Amino acid sequence: STSSPSTSTSSTHFARRCFSSESAPARKVAVLGAAGGIGQPLALLMKLNPLVSSLSLYDIAGTPGVAADVSHINTRSEVAGYMGEAQLAQALDGCDLVIIPAGVPRKPGMTRDDLFNINAGIVKTLCTAIAKYCPHALVNMISNPVNSTVPIAAEIFKKAGTYDEKRLFGVTTLDVVRARTFFAGKANVNVADVNVPVVGGHAGITILPLFSQAAPKGSNLSDEEITALTKRTQDGGTEVVEAKAGKGSATLSMAYAGAVFADACLKGLNGVPDIVECSYVQSNITDIPFFASKVRLGKNGVEEILGLGPMSDFEKEGLEKLKPELLSSIEKGVKFANQ
Ligand code: NAI
Repeated sequence: STSSPSTSTSSTHFARRCFSSESAPARKVAVLGAAGGIGQPLALLMKLNPLVSSLSLYDIAGTPGVAADVSHINTRSEVAGYMGEAQLAQALDGCDLVIIPAGVPRKPGMTRDDLFNINAGIVKTLCTAIAKYCPHALVNMISNPVNSTVPIAAEIFKKAGTYDEKRLFGVTTLDVVRARTFFAGKANVNVADVNVPVVGGHAGITILPLFSQAAPKGSNLSDEEITALTKRTQDGGTEVVEAKAGKGSATLSMAYAGAVFADACLKGLNGVPDIVECSYVQSNITDIPFFASKVRLGKNGVEEILGLGPMSDFEKEGLEKLKPELLSSIEKGVKFANQ
């Protein structure tokens, strides 16, 4: 006796859906710079994410050790380590999502823009390979200065003919994480309930937290307190750089933030509705071509760029002040990519 093919196919699907503990679709995620200060804890957090089926850890050195270590954790994903440019193709092949924390971090006294010369070259190399080996992957750019590295990536992808503005993201989640934490502390509300949009860019005054839209409301906060919270959010990275006194910048909180954003991207790819995160993307909600704001994530990456919403006079002023710096960082990136 033979059962009809359609029955056997659908029952196989049904069985897979109901009885597999790994019902989420297969997703390959690469971390480029995986042996670094951010890369290692980010590799750990991605290994803990059940949406990942294959975790690809790439760096110019140190990845075999990180990969062997992380691979012993008894969670879903297979883990492979790749070292050196000769293995970059394999690391990227078939990726759904590529996270880039490769590059040098700040030391005390440095701005993110001081990293430009080294990191711009690294990002260029990595994005050239992404265009070749996984042109449809979502790209989460962590390497600083994000205000410039995202436009660099866009230009590299344009040259390769693979650019899709819906798939390129500057990771600004750490600014949101900080704004939530600092706000909850001042407003005396439960940090787990707090959300604060952060818009603009990812450096100094280009980081614009919209505390007037914080939920739950911090109605007890004075203008002076809002000004201080804004400044602390903008300088959060520098706070860590100084505390680490020459040993680098935020790595653990950044890995957490990177893992939160990557998880949101994967949920979007998998069709989970209403996934909204702030991110620095190609945008036309202002007259600046790349801009961070709330973005709805979906099967193709950016599903919708949400508007800025109602802002206080203080925030409107901050928005006008950040535009020239953000625009010049973008132009610097575009120029570098085209030279
Ligand atoms: P790190 O120096 O500890 O690690 C960087 C890693 O990148 C190293 O393992 C290095 O070998 C690797 N690397 C260098 N060149 C590479 C290449 N061509 N291909 C692949 N890997 C390469 O630095 P850390 O602390 O992990 O920071 C990494 C980047 O993330 C920095 O640019 C930093 O400014 C940025 N960052 C961004 C944040 C954000 O909010 N977007 C927050 C904190 C840091």
